[in-house]
Amino acid sequence: MTKLRSRIAGCGSYAPAKVLSNRDLEEIVETSDAWITTRTGIRERRITLDEKTYEVASKAAKEALKSAGVAARDLDVIITGTVTPDMVFPSTSCFVQSTIGARSGIPAFDVSAACSGFLYALDIADKYVRSGAANKVLVIGVDIFSRIIDWTDRSTCVLFGDGAGAVVLTATRGKSCILSSHIHSDGRYWDMLYVPGAIDSNPFEKRPSKQKPHVRMKGNETFKIAVRTMSRAAKEVLEFNGLKPEDIALLIPHQANIRIVNATKERLKLTDDQVFSNIDRYGNTSAASIPLALDEAVRNRRIKRGDIVIFVSFGGGLTWASAAVRW
Ligand code: COA
Repeated sequence: MTKLRSRIAGCGSYAPAKVLSNRDLEEIVETSDAWITTRTGIRERRITLDEKTYEVASKAAKEALKSAGVAARDLDVIITGTVTPDMVFPSTSCFVQSTIGARSGIPAFDVSAACSGFLYALDIADKYVRSGAANKVLVIGVDIFSRIIDWTDRSTCVLFGDGAGAVVLTATRGKSCILSSHIHSDGRYWDMLYVPGAIDSNPFEKRPSKQKPHVRMKGNETFKIAVRTMSRAAKEVLEFNGLKPEDIALLIPHQANIRIVNATKERLKLTDDQVFSNIDRYGNTSAASIPLALDEAVRNRRIKRGDIVIFVSFGGGLTWASAAVRW
């Protein structure tokens, strides 16, 4: 009998209504629309001032459930990739579980892998389904980076935006399925990109922590590693499945910088039509980046049944990941 696999039965996304343009940023830090556009490809991003992470996540989740035709009460597992939860605990997934009306008693938990969070969550969800432990899994990528940005630091505050994306995986023995997923990390490079100090390092120390929980990044070094790693991750998933770059109908890479996306495209010798990007309108939404882009690609009919779709990500940790899907 054909092996049990998972398929993406539906997807959804949500981005806050407030648009923060490059021109708006010119009022906040010393920067220019021209600098941001040419160095990053970002023109605007969405920012939320009053929504909670779990609310943003739940909106994307409800869209994904609707598009999959799956009722929240039928979910077996909820997994969320995020590094900006509303609280240290409970997890975002627990809040989502009660908000969307999923059953009491199912496992609901978060995964911390920064910008690779969604693909990490997808990898775990796929393994739940393949093992027969779950039939229907909700996978969410959500981040509200506006809360952990130093809005006086022009080298980071222009890059990020807020949002959420979600997919519902269902068990299948058919051809449309997740072919494989691959997740990796290398903690030696933790200081490329990090946010210090959510918890007191020493409870008996009277001095308040000097380090605010803001994004710190070695931009230039991170850029170089990202270019190398994203193309390597794409090659890994292609080779594993006996695929060639020309077999890719759509590559949906993590949207960190259009120059990283383009470098990945060139290293794999892909055409413009084979690569999806919406970074101009959302910036880097961290764990939300890939599912937000996927949802837009699906709605714009950029993906049809039978297509090979590849996801690749890169993020703090360092973490990187890839997945191949036959749509
Ligand atoms: N506006 C104007 N000038 C800026 C600026 C801004 N927003 N941010 C930085 N600069 C300046 C720097 O101060 C520097 O000035 P100097 O030459 O006088 O010192 C100059 O621009 C060049 O800085 P540099 O860091 O070398 O630019 P860069 O071409 O590497 O681009 C990033 C900077 C951050 C856009 C780029 O390094 C990047 O995208 N890195 C990867 C980030 C990333 O993907 N992180 C998430 C991974 S998931």
